[in-house]
Parts: sequence; C-alpha cells; structure tokens
Amino acid sequence: MLNTVSVTPVCVWWVLFAVYLLPGAFGDDPYAFFDWTVEYLTVAPLGVNQQVIAINGQFPGPLLNVTTNWNVMVNVKNKLDEPLLLTWNGIQHRKNSWQDGVLGTNCPIPAGWNWTYQFQVKDQIGSFFYFPSVNFQRATGGYGGIIINNRAVIPLPFGAPDGDITLLISDWYTKSHKELRKDTEKGVDLGVPDGILFNGLGPFRYDDALVPDNLPYLKIDVEPGKTYRFRVHNVGISTSLNFRIHNHNLLLVETEGSYTVQQNYTDMDIHVGQSYSFLVTMDQNASSDYYICASPRFINSSAWSRAMGVAILHYTNSQGPASGPLPDPPNELDTYYSMNQARSIRWNVSAGAARPNPQGSFKYGQITVTDTYVILNRPAELIDGKWHTTLNGISYLAPSTPLKLALQFNIPGVYKLDFPNKLMNRPAKLDTSIINGTYKSFMEIIFQNNDSTVQTYHMDGYAFFVVGMDYGIWTENSRSTYNKWDGVARSSTQVFPGAWTAILIYLDNVGIWNLRAENLDSWYLGQEVYVNVVNPEITDKTELPLPDNTIYCGLLSPMQQDQAQRVKFSGATTDLPLGGRKILAALIVSLFVTLFR
Ligand SMILES: *[C@@H]1O[C@H](CO)[C@@H](O)[C@H](O)[C@H]1NC(C)=O
Ligand SMILES: *[C@@H]1O[C@H](CO)[C@@H](O)[C@H](O)[C@H]1NC(C)=O
Ligand SMILES: *[C@@H]1O[C@H](CO)[C@@H](O)[C@H](O)[C@H]1NC(C)=O
Ligand SMILES: *[C@@H]1O[C@H](CO)[C@@H](O)[C@H](O)[C@H]1NC(C)=O
Ligand SMILES: *[C@@H]1O[C@H](CO)[C@@H](O)[C@H](O)[C@H]1NC(C)=O
Ligand SMILES: *[C@@H]1O[C@H](CO)[C@@H](O)[C@H](O)[C@H]1NC(C)=O
Ligand SMILES: *[C@@H]1O[C@H](CO)[C@@H](O)[C@H](O)[C@H]1NC(C)=O
Ligand SMILES: *[C@@H]1O[C@H](CO)[C@@H](O)[C@H](O)[C@H]1NC(C)=O
Repeated sequence: MLNTVSVTPVCVWWVLFAVYLLPGAFGDDPYAFFDWTVEYLTVAPLGVNQQVIAINGQFPGPLLNVTTNWNVMVNVKNKLDEPLLLTWNGIQHRKNSWQDGVLGTNCPIPAGWNWTYQFQVKDQIGSFFYFPSVNFQRATGGYGGIIINNRAVIPLPFGAPDGDITLLISDWYTKSHKELRKDTEKGVDLGVPDGILFNGLGPFRYDDALVPDNLPYLKIDVEPGKTYRFRVHNVGISTSLNFRIHNHNLLLVETEGSYTVQQNYTDMDIHVGQSYSFLVTMDQNASSDYYICASPRFINSSAWSRAMGVAILHYTNSQGPASGPLPDPPNELDTYYSMNQARSIRWNVSAGAARPNPQGSFKYGQITVTDTYVILNRPAELIDGKWHTTLNGISYLAPSTPLKLALQFNIPGVYKLDFPNKLMNRPAKLDTSIINGTYKSFMEIIFQNNDSTVQTYHMDGYAFFVVGMDYGIWTENSRSTYNKWDGVARSSTQVFPGAWTAILIYLDNVGIWNLRAENLDSWYLGQEVYVNVVNPEITDKTELPLPDNTIYCGLLSPMQQDQAQRVKFSGATTDLPLGGRKILAALIVSLFVTLFR
C-alpha cells in the first residue's frame, strides 16, 4: 500500500479531495468572481517613469466591493517576474487560513502561474485592503481597497452617505521594490520618501518650488451639502501619515471592521497598515477648492518637505482652485497628541455590525486572560553578519514549506511551538519559532516598542481589542489602566516608540495566523511570528479542508501536479532532501488517516 500510493499519489488525492469538498463548503450565500492579472506597468506619479505593480492595468488595483457572508473567488494571474501572494488585510477568513496569502499558509504563486483564492467574508463589515505579501512588492503597488457592506437587514449606525470614496495613501520612492529590498537587506535606511501618493497619484501643485508642473493629481468631485464616506488606508512602507481636509471635519465612524463612537476630528494619524472611515459633510461655502493632505508624522527635518501628499476636494460650485498654505499639521513636539487621539477611538457597543445583535454583546472585559505574551521589538541589528529585526530576540525564518502545510501533512521539524512569552536573556537568533495558541483561550499581548519609530502590528484571522497604550515599560500594574468596556476591535494597532500597546484576543478561529509588523522594512527583516490555533477535538466543523487547488512547495514539492512548470522559489529548496521519500510516504499515510478518521 505504502509503495503503490507513493508512486501515484496525485491522482488518488484529487479524487479524494473532490469528494471531500462536494458538500458545499461555502453554503448558499452569493458568489462574487474576480479575474485579476497582476503585472508591471510604467507610470510616473512623481514625474519620473517607474515600474509599478498593477492589477488589470489599474494602479492601485480594483476595489473589492462585497457584502457580509459573500463568497469571493479571485483568480490571480501572476505576470510578474517573481513569485506573488496577495493577502487580505483585516479579512478574518473564518475557519480558513488556507486563503490568507502569506508564506506561513501558502506557497507563493510562481511567475507565470495563476491561483484562485476562494473565501467567504464571514461575519464581517468594514473597510480593509489587499496587498502583495512577499518580496517587498507592496512598495510598488499591487494593493487596492476592500469594502464589506452591511447586509440589508442590519442598518448602518449613521445615515446612508451620498458617496463612498476609497483613498489609499502611501509613502513612495522612485526606486523599485527590488532596489528597496536590497537596501533594506544591507541595513541602508530607506531615507526620506520621494513623495506621498493619493491613489497612486502625486501631489497637486500647492507650491511651485516643491512640486513639478503637470503631475497628475487626485481630484474628488463633490456636491455641496452632501455627506461622503471616505475610507482611508495607509498602504505605504513605513511612514505614519496625518490625514486632514482643509476646513472640513472628519467624523470617524468605523475602523477595520468596527463601528466607532462617532466623533469629529480635524485630522487623524493613520499608521502603516491602518484603515479608517470618516463621514465628511460638504458644509463649506466653496469659495475655492480644498486641500486634502497626507503628511508624514514624527519627522525631524525640513528634508521631508518634499514628501507631502496633496489631493483636491472640488465642489461642483467651487469658485476656483485651492491656493495658499496647506492646513497645519499637528505639532510634532506634542508627544501625547497622537497617543491621546488613538486612545479616544472607542467602540460603539450599541451599534449592530455584521450580526443583528450589538457589537458590544461580546463583553471582552469580563473574560479571564489565560495567556500573556509581552512582545518586545528591536530595531534592525546584525545577526550572523546580516541585518535582521526581532520580536523577543527572534527573527522569523520563513521555512520553504508553509507552516500550515507542514501541520496538515505532519511533517516534523519545520517549525517549533516555542515562541517565548517574554524577551529571553540570550543572544538574538533566526528561528522558525511560533506561538502555541490554545483554542478558545483569551490571550493578552503587550507590544513593547524598543525602536525609535512608530510600528504597527497586525494579526491575520482576528479582530483584537486595543485596551491600552502608554509610554514607558509595561508592568502588571499597567493593567489597571486598561479599557475593559469599549476598546475598539480591529486588526492592527500602532505602538509608539518607547511605549507599549496592549491587546486582547479571543482565539476562536482555527488556523495558523500571521502576526506581523506592517512596516515593510521591519517585517521584511524578520518581525513576524505565527499563532497556531488548533481545535483539540477532532471535527470538520471548525476548519475547512485543504483546498483542492493547493500549490505545493518546499518539502511538498513532489506533490505539485504540474512538475514541469515547477519553479524554484526564492529562498526555498525545491529538491527533496535525503530521506524525503520516507517523509513523503509517511505523510501520505497521515493524509489517509486525516481523511478517514
Ligand atoms: C458596492 O456595491 C454595492 C452593491 O452591492 C453598490 O450599491 C455600491 O455603490 C458599491 N460601492 C462602491 C464604492 O462601488
Ligand atoms: C487558472 O485560471 C483558469 C481560468 O483562467 C482557471 O480555470 C483555473 O482554475 C485557474 N487555476 C487555478 C489553480 O486557480
Ligand atoms: C452608536 O450606534 C447607535 C446604533 O446604530 C447609533 O444610534 C448611535 O448614534 C451611535 N452612537 C455614537 C455615539 O456614535
Ligand atoms: C461634527 O461636525 C459637524 C460639522 O462639520 C457637525 O454638524 C456635527 O454635529 C459634529 N458631530 C459630532 C458628533 O460632534
Ligand atoms: C465664504 O466665501 C467668502 C468669499 O466668497 C470668504 O470671504 C469667506 O471666508 C468664506 N467663508 C468660509 C467659512 O469659508
Ligand atoms: C533626522 O534624523 C536623521 C536620521 O534619523 C538624521 O540623519 C538627521 O540628522 C536628523 N535631522 C535633524 C534635523 O535632526
Ligand atoms: C500546545 O498547547 C496545547 C494546549 O493548547 C498543549 O496541549 C500542547 O502540549 C502544546 N504543545 C506544545 C508543543 O507546547
Ligand atoms: C530600548 O531598551 C533599552 C534597554 O534595553 C533602553 O535603554 C532604551 O531606552 C529603549 N529604547 C526605547 C526607544 O524604548
């Protein structure tokens, strides 16, 4: 049996998977199909021709606009010259980490291949974005907005807006993502960005000395008296951006899938990887157009003056172009401004969201914490002669076999479940050490930022409660300051330099989930870990089965159906090492065990 199966494994498995999948894994909810070709496109957002990553010829990519519980199928064709994975920032993929699109769960889609993501946007509403998760590609595009609308049966906690505008703001360099990642590997600071883009476009010419003539810029047409929902995402590399619209209030209503207590802000600090929705009422007299700004935060010098994002808000009855100085940014010397703003964001506990019952029915403040991780990040340092960043002294080493596939096929030695719950007194190292999460436990994570820049940490598969943040070192006494009532549930949080941020997570979503720095340079150099959440009870109800179109790589490469097209992924070993056949045979057995138990 062993030998015969190992000779023709693939055909046998395809049959099994087909049967296994038949009883409609996705239920009766509507399906939305997308066909996306990902390829380079030459554009000049800052007046210099450069290659960006476009989807279906669009940069930024198309909006993914769906409704709670819809099934989404996205056929991604990789026409880049390197492997690709798209990840869905903030989409929870309930029971389905197979579709998360990060190296711990998926083999990258080789250049020239296509792969179809199939997932359900289960029990979610809100504003999110997708982006390419490998090879520093996000630095040159490949991203776009995601909207998950409320089902018709659940009213919005505000009047229906007259328009819905997605804004992707980002720091931007004229260097390619390949040059930027090489610089990062060499420990070269990315330096001052060459500009800040709004939806892939350079700044309006607000200053003749600073902005070249004839740059295309973003102009948003609005009607007086109407109210628009602006969904603003920082999709950049590493720069926190202050977002503001001249003379207009930003009424914050939602962040990363939670409706917030509605409050007006004149500006909002949006850190890398974060998403916010604001309602903006066109209540000005349109004596001219108005500036929309995204300016870098926490900067120290005038060298940054060239990095300014400026778009235009144009009333249909506007009397003329915007002119004069840009609206003032917050005072850079006010250390607490940004932190106080972040703390002021609250969950509207009485608003319904994806479900008819109010968001606040899940009373997170009453649940007992079972595991605590204090995760300390350090700026890049040399480990074995190369630049790396660490979390608790460990720089994540991505194995060539995705963790999730190694778990599925019982391949030993790919990762260890020994990520420390605090900084250990030992030298920094590279390792594939992940967090052993306990299913349905309640985890507390404190991020302690030892870097000199703001970092955003994000977790896939979950929304967590942001319960506290402060400067200094977190201690057990810090818990007395936690917000146990209306801390907002979201998927990313900023951690200020020399400060901590505490989050609480209910580990009810089975899978292996990425926990990472959103700042691309920190992430690329190793600031990530995974959380493995396993249901000890054997059931097919808490996790979807392995998808039938799974791509295999690393130790599982021999299982890849189309051997001829098999590509050597960067950093991955595709050759089966000594003993590989035995492992393969063993895992085939384990597969049968898994399928038939
Ligand atoms: C999203 O789709 C819905 C229909 O499902 C439509 O009403 C809405 O206008 C769309 N939103 C955007 C921003 O395109
Ligand atoms: C590749 O795309 C074709 C259609 O263009 C589709 O039939 C096929 O299922 C896709 N392959 C994968 C692995 O998703
Ligand atoms: C919270 O949501 C409720 C229910 O939709 C809404 O009526 C109320 O205005 C919201 N409250 C605030 C302060 O935003
Ligand atoms: C927000 O500002 C607008 C004016 O732009 C005002 O009409 C509205 O009442 C304010 N809302 C809150 C909740 O303060
Ligand atoms: C309204 O427009 C006039 C010019 O028509 C201008 O002087 C005035 O400052 C404007 N008011 C506001 C609130 O923008
Ligand atoms: C700003 O910081 C950079 C590096 O962080 C440093 O090289 C530069 O001298 C600083 N400039 C000022 C004006 O402090
Ligand atoms: C992981 O945690 C589970 C409990 O959730 C425990 O049974 C198991 O022994 C742990 N595994 C390791 C390797 O620590
Ligand atoms: C980082 O940690 C060191 C001690 O390990 C401390 O001296 C330093 O102030 C910390 N820096 C920040 C920004 O937290």
